[in-house]
Amino acid sequence: MGDRWYSEAVIYCLDVETYADSDGDGVGDIRGLIGRLDYLARLGVTCIWLSPIHPSPNKDDGYDATDFYNVDPRLGTLGDFAELLHQAQNRGIRVIIDLVVNHTSDEHPWFQSARSSPDSAYRDWYIWSEEAPDDRHQGMVFPGEQNETWSYDRTAKAWYYHRFYKFQPDLNMANPKVREEVKKIMSFWLQLGVSGFRMDAVPFIIELTEPGNPNSPKDMEFLTELRQHVQWRRGDAVLLAEANVEPDQLPVYFGDGSGSGNRIHMLFDFMLNGRLMLALAREDPETIIDALRDTPKLPTGGQWATFLRNHDEIDLSRLTTDQRNDVLAKFGPDEEMQLYGRGIRRRLAPMLGNDRRHIELAYALQFSLRGTPVLRYGEEIGMGEDLSLKGRDAIRTPMQWSYQPNGGFSTAEPEKLVRPVLDTGEFSYEKVNVTAQRKDPRSLLGWFERMIRTLREAPEIGSGSTTHIDVPLPAGVLAHRADGPTGTMVFLHNLGTEDVEVDLSTLQPEADLPVDVLSDRGYDEVGKLDRLKLAGHGYRWIRLCRSWSV
Ligand code: GLC
Repeated sequence: MGDRWYSEAVIYCLDVETYADSDGDGVGDIRGLIGRLDYLARLGVTCIWLSPIHPSPNKDDGYDATDFYNVDPRLGTLGDFAELLHQAQNRGIRVIIDLVVNHTSDEHPWFQSARSSPDSAYRDWYIWSEEAPDDRHQGMVFPGEQNETWSYDRTAKAWYYHRFYKFQPDLNMANPKVREEVKKIMSFWLQLGVSGFRMDAVPFIIELTEPGNPNSPKDMEFLTELRQHVQWRRGDAVLLAEANVEPDQLPVYFGDGSGSGNRIHMLFDFMLNGRLMLALAREDPETIIDALRDTPKLPTGGQWATFLRNHDEIDLSRLTTDQRNDVLAKFGPDEEMQLYGRGIRRRLAPMLGNDRRHIELAYALQFSLRGTPVLRYGEEIGMGEDLSLKGRDAIRTPMQWSYQPNGGFSTAEPEKLVRPVLDTGEFSYEKVNVTAQRKDPRSLLGWFERMIRTLREAPEIGSGSTTHIDVPLPAGVLAHRADGPTGTMVFLHNLGTEDVEVDLSTLQPEADLPVDVLSDRGYDEVGKLDRLKLAGHGYRWIRLCRSWSV
């Protein structure tokens, strides 16, 4: 096994408020989540990433904190959180939390004080301008929902900067006191026992904002400082960053302390996310092959986090217009499915027409590609979205546990629920729920359990090197391999719908006892690797050889 736990982890992301409600008030809570840890252990995930848990007016799903040192009372207490860490640890599950320190809520006492007077001790914790900055209508993250990045505050009698919504004033990271506070916040949660942080909005945290300059400089050294701090406090803690930046910028985020990364450990692979969607839409693996070829080399300890779905829209902004249009035409044809002119606010199962074979193919592919897979709650049972909800809420409906009212999420009256449970159509909780799937080994949930178990027996996927197998293949088929000290895995995925036969006999000299360890159906023996059958939307994970020396 590798030294770095996160390289061989399976991360499951969930929002406490929509996961399980233990006290019947309509809001999911930490105690509810504790009650579901056995479910997560059985699923095989090794780490959970919690969306923001801090007290918040909740105008952006908790990404607007009013106190970084507490848990929102709607979700429970700090005591409940400590209990969660203990219970998760007993099951071998680590917990990481969202750390949203680019901004606070405008209701945070720091901002309230800052705006009240130029003499406030917190005035310089935020970013102000006396004049209206020329670039105030540039750089919005949520176009359509947000029309400026600088707003005038009447109490402060000045303009303040907010990269996101108006109610999320940016903290001033140029101020050493703010930097110290961020470190203190991290220390606090590490001391409680979290295994690290999903760092929100990292490119903006390090921005040294200058009014009127839409391309303000960035202070990458702050990331080096944070990494060092975190590592001093807890050697195995991990930073998993959201940095949806140009690909050539990514290595800078990993940092290079002479070959061993000295900044962020893990970055979400946004590029791959868009390319996976494109490959699925076009039934053509070309863009994934490109991704495998041109991904920058990572420093030791650097790792990608792969995903198909997360809590936000699928961001297609890094694809070309043609590519984006192909994905939209296939997976988000109606305007109501699209968001901010760049993305799709849907879950995967409905995008793939609830076609079980296609869903398996997509997830088998994501989980077999280099990096640590991140799985969004509900995807393991094939949940759908609710397009009648606004914006990204469409994909944030409560977890569907059972046939009971509210899908077993809560015993509250439906109108009290934090968000409505999907109760109509083919994705309603009566059709898609954990209880039903748990009883059926052929269910999607049963498949995810098997797939994750198989993945965990193949550490070369997370810790090894992944390359494209460049041999002539039928259209639509991707062949790749993962090599590590533990051996070699070979993967075939057919993005097309035709049944095909694949010849991988060039690999035969390396194979000791090649065997299918996961496939969409029972295929004939692997044999000499020269006539490998592969159904339309089929996949085969083949263990080529196992190194017995490790
Ligand atoms: C990140 C989060 C998103 C949130 C935003 C502001 O992009 O993923 O959900 O709205 O930051 O904090």
